[in-house]
Amino acid sequence: MVYETATEATPARPVLFSRFLLIWIPLIILVAATEAAAIPLALVLGKDSLPAFGAIDAAAMGLFLVDFLLNYGRERGRRTRLGWLLFASDLVAAVPFHLIFGVFPLVFLRLVKLIRVAHWMSQWRHIHIQRWNILRLVYFVCWLALFVHWLATGWLALRGLPHSEDPWTAYLHSLYWCISTLTTIGYTDFTPVNKSEYLYAIAVMIFGVGMYGYVIANVSTILTNLEPGRARYMANLERVGAFMQYRRIPSGLRKRIREYYAYLWEERLGYDEGPIVDALPPGLRTEVSLHLKRDIIQKVPFFQKAGESLLRDIALQMHPVVYTPGDYVFRKGDPGKEMYFISSGRLQVLAEDGKTSLATLGEGDFFGEMALLLDQSRTASVRADGYCDLYRLEKSDFLVAMAKHPEFAEHVRTMTEARRKRKRL
Ligand code: CMP
Repeated sequence: MVYETATEATPARPVLFSRFLLIWIPLIILVAATEAAAIPLALVLGKDSLPAFGAIDAAAMGLFLVDFLLNYGRERGRRTRLGWLLFASDLVAAVPFHLIFGVFPLVFLRLVKLIRVAHWMSQWRHIHIQRWNILRLVYFVCWLALFVHWLATGWLALRGLPHSEDPWTAYLHSLYWCISTLTTIGYTDFTPVNKSEYLYAIAVMIFGVGMYGYVIANVSTILTNLEPGRARYMANLERVGAFMQYRRIPSGLRKRIREYYAYLWEERLGYDEGPIVDALPPGLRTEVSLHLKRDIIQKVPFFQKAGESLLRDIALQMHPVVYTPGDYVFRKGDPGKEMYFISSGRLQVLAEDGKTSLATLGEGDFFGEMALLLDQSRTASVRADGYCDLYRLEKSDFLVAMAKHPEFAEHVRTMTEARRKRKRL
């Protein structure tokens, strides 16, 4: 969870403090929401109608003050425009102006704390991207409930408290009027009696129409976005299908292409990690690359003992590639431009006749290094037995890694020598 004060150089918070915020922020939101509902009611119905109001307001004052100190006590650096807005709203919400000046309506100023609440909500939107659709629905329902309550309180203020009803029955009538005006556009059994009531009712009806439009537009967006990964994958599959039909791709080949996409979906939910990782800034890119390639790093015995610097250098340069059953990664005599590490799957190293298997390679093995090391063409063909997830390392990156990390160079040379002896090359 992020707790930002929107300044440029606020120091990082310790873990314990972040855990504390997990409870603190929802508590502040709860208190701010209670105040947002109670203050207009207290102003319209009178403080005495809400016996708990004094306690709620005192608690809010204390908590908002502590929250202000937590937000700005550790703040360093320049404050942005948003930072100033949040600072002002946090400060105004924490100061009991109504008690200082003895004017009760000034309690209304506490509602500016909702600016901070809205800011937190918008931050969660970036953090919980996966659950953003649900979150959007929850936000909408919460804000709508608060707004309907305000409209009902406004209607009550406009009409005044009838002598025949107790305050809560009067509020209930107002709420009933408000909801029926919003949802049925004016088909309610409470009719306005003067100009200001008519104007208020018109405004509420217009808001109701807008609300309908918003709900319908959002529900359809939410439904389409429920599984964005699948929707993107299906759209891509449709595009590929249309292409295969248009270019009259033979049915055998079509089947292999479809199977390849099915494999991609099963293994990686259709995501191509390359462009996502490449779009990150350098520091993050290295960290993410290391994380993504942890499986291959754990499988290659040499990498397990390798130093951090080699892992960082190599992980950044390794690019994922998939080979489908029967594919040749390269054939004997091809020029050598890259070497490969096997993340999953099995491959055959084949002699010149294309049938005799010289070796079977699997998870954690590497191949294609001989042509790079000895600056010659491929000494054998390599064919995928089934689906294979490989990582490709370009010749230039391989040579840089060899020059920079002698222990890696030594290991590759030993392997090459052993393979050469086995093949008697
Ligand atoms: P290269 O010559 O570039 O292309 C073929 C690759 O197959 C070769 O590099 C080695 O990585 C690999 N290879 C060749 N012979 C063997 C073997 N006997 N055992 C394992 N791998 C081999």
